[in-house]
Amino acid sequence: MSDYKKIKEEAIQALREAKSVERAEELRVVYLGRKGVITTALRALAEKSIEEKRSDGPELNAFRKELEDRIKERKKELSFKGVANFDLTMPGKKLKRGSLHPLSIVEKEIVAIFKSMNFSVAEGPEAESEYYNFDALNIPENHPAREMWDTFWLESSQKISDNNFKSSNKKVEKFLMRTHTSPVQIRFMKENKPPFQIVVPGRVFRYEATDMSHEINFHQIEGLSIGRSINLANLKFIIEEFFNRFFGKKLEFRFRPSYFPFVEPGVEVDIKMPGGEKWLEVMGAGMVHKNVLKAVKIDEREWQGFAFGMGVERLAMLKYKIPDIRMFYAGDLRFIRQF
Ligand code: DAH
Repeated sequence: MSDYKKIKEEAIQALREAKSVERAEELRVVYLGRKGVITTALRALAEKSIEEKRSDGPELNAFRKELEDRIKERKKELSFKGVANFDLTMPGKKLKRGSLHPLSIVEKEIVAIFKSMNFSVAEGPEAESEYYNFDALNIPENHPAREMWDTFWLESSQKISDNNFKSSNKKVEKFLMRTHTSPVQIRFMKENKPPFQIVVPGRVFRYEATDMSHEINFHQIEGLSIGRSINLANLKFIIEEFFNRFFGKKLEFRFRPSYFPFVEPGVEVDIKMPGGEKWLEVMGAGMVHKNVLKAVKIDEREWQGFAFGMGVERLAMLKYKIPDIRMFYAGDLRFIRQF
């Protein structure tokens, strides 16, 4: 048996050293040919005792099979001519590459500008609790302001055990698809100590009829900056800096008093393109309401700051002159590939 082993090692070694298909074929004849080493040994086995047949037979057969495979493999390797044989003048195949969706591109641009102004990025869940989406943001039950956000309610609800919800006087917590990114303000402030400033990109949902400027889901970027003396002037600077850079030109700005329950005072920001006629509404903002700070146990006598929220689709539409918000979601590649 050790004889076979030695023969096998020699054969494999010789095959490895073979430098041509012809040499590999020679080796095949030497070992597996009609008068080959293995063939002869197998034939000789016929004369041997039953015990020897039983012990040597399988081993020899396995050896033959293995060598056959190795020779075939080696021949294949040796016949491969490699790149030298490659016709460089042949026309290439065009690779099909995917690209980012325009909304992803715009979101990245927006986030990059805020990052350069020292904002961090935070995110939160799309399925949200009623508490985070409304109550903690100073939008009490039955307050008419809740009607500003048409809501997709989820069927599940849960008994309230969490301390956070106690103040809301409710026994059962309901869930919904978040109607804005503002609940992430709450989530972030509960987990982090000020000072901080963050932006929150994310998808939001509204239960409403669709048209050129309304979709049942769209994207927002929320902003939040909390410090000891963060004020409206800081908000104004950051916002103007952001929009000028996003559109790549010097815009005109208008800050109009407005109402959002989670800020006081609240403003709406309008921009006007150079040479443009119309004021365009692009953002809601304001100074974070003291009730919001209280809800997350940040001392409102020590800390203050601003918040803002804007729609990504709206900005993308203005920047790239896209006429209909539904184009973002129609999945038409002729649209997508233009970006
Ligand atoms: N959450 C508001 C909305 O979806 C937008 C908004 C307004 C966000 C004012 C803010 C803010 O942070 O201060 O309509």
